[in-house]
Amino acid sequence: MSTVISSEQALRSAVRSALVAPSIFNTQPWRWQLDPPRARLYADRSRQLLVADPTGRLLTISCGVALHHARTVLAATGQIADVARLPDPADRDLLAELTVEGCAEPQLEQLLAAGAIQRRRTDRRPFSPRPVPEAACRTLARAAGRQGAHALALDRDRVPLFALTAVRASLMELADPDYRAELADWTHRPPWSGDGVDTGSSVRAVARRVPVRDYAPFGGPTLPAGPEDDRGARYLLIYTDTDLPGDWIRAGEALSAVLLSAVSAGLATAPISDVTELSATRDELRELLPRPGCPQIAVRIGYPPDGTPPPTARRLPEEVVELPPC
Ligand SMILES: Cc1cc2nc3c(=O)[nH]c(=O)nc-3n(C[C@H](O)[C@H](O)[C@H](O)COP(=O)(O)O)c2cc1C
Repeated sequence: MSTVISSEQALRSAVRSALVAPSIFNTQPWRWQLDPPRARLYADRSRQLLVADPTGRLLTISCGVALHHARTVLAATGQIADVARLPDPADRDLLAELTVEGCAEPQLEQLLAAGAIQRRRTDRRPFSPRPVPEAACRTLARAAGRQGAHALALDRDRVPLFALTAVRASLMELADPDYRAELADWTHRPPWSGDGVDTGSSVRAVARRVPVRDYAPFGGPTLPAGPEDDRGARYLLIYTDTDLPGDWIRAGEALSAVLLSAVSAGLATAPISDVTELSATRDELRELLPRPGCPQIAVRIGYPPDGTPPPTARRLPEEVVELPPC
């Protein structure tokens, strides 16, 4: 009995922590169903970005991040959890089922990663000239590899090519009126919605090594960009061998592992997905890979300037989590 109660508490805490996971345009496109000793993660297709993400790939990656956040908290609270990804071929919205199966002593790395969940922010400000150590990039690549995806830290001489791709992605997307309408929608959400990207968490376009997505092309208050220009930043490309929904979940789990591992090492992070949203620019990224593969998302990593960006809004737990009947 006590095991069931503690696994239920652990699941509640894991799912609650997963609600602060990052997601494309802060859409939070997930639903959780608690059924101790299980928790089920569903895709919420009503929150899909139909222009930037017509296949639901980035929606699924976002849910993969939430899944890894929940797994991390379970591990840190001493629970052994089995994960079944896409367990029901008849229900493709059921992305994963977590089942608590026993107890184990948490490892330091899991405790540190769990501790990073609430501290993590997408930091869109340019990072400092202090270089990210090569050893840190290797640690992040290993963290991604353990989740079943690859993370490549781009060599510095490949960054200009990546920057060209980012410029092209930005120009092509902003030239599309449907994309602009979708961006305007998700950057001008009513305060009660608890979702979307407020322009106040973005920075205006400034000279930097690789441009980042412009969330304020229509104006609005932004964070001060500061004096830096990303000179010390590294760019990681997360990719998979194939391009199926199961790979997208794994890519999301790898993204989460990279973000949490970076934050626990004192680094700041910012996902970059616009470069993967159009097939033309996604194809350009394939050229940067060491072998055939499917680029899923990039991440900028670096030492941040002073201060921390403000937290972004989240939906209320009761809107997202279905509890077991009393
Ligand atoms: C799949 C995915 C794609 C994202 N793409 C971008 C992006 O292209 N540019 C960006 O600045 N942030 C991107 N983000 C970060 C989200 O905008 C961010 O997580 C969300 O606004 C919530 O803010 P927070 O991460 O600070 O909690 C992405 C996040 C995910 C999970």
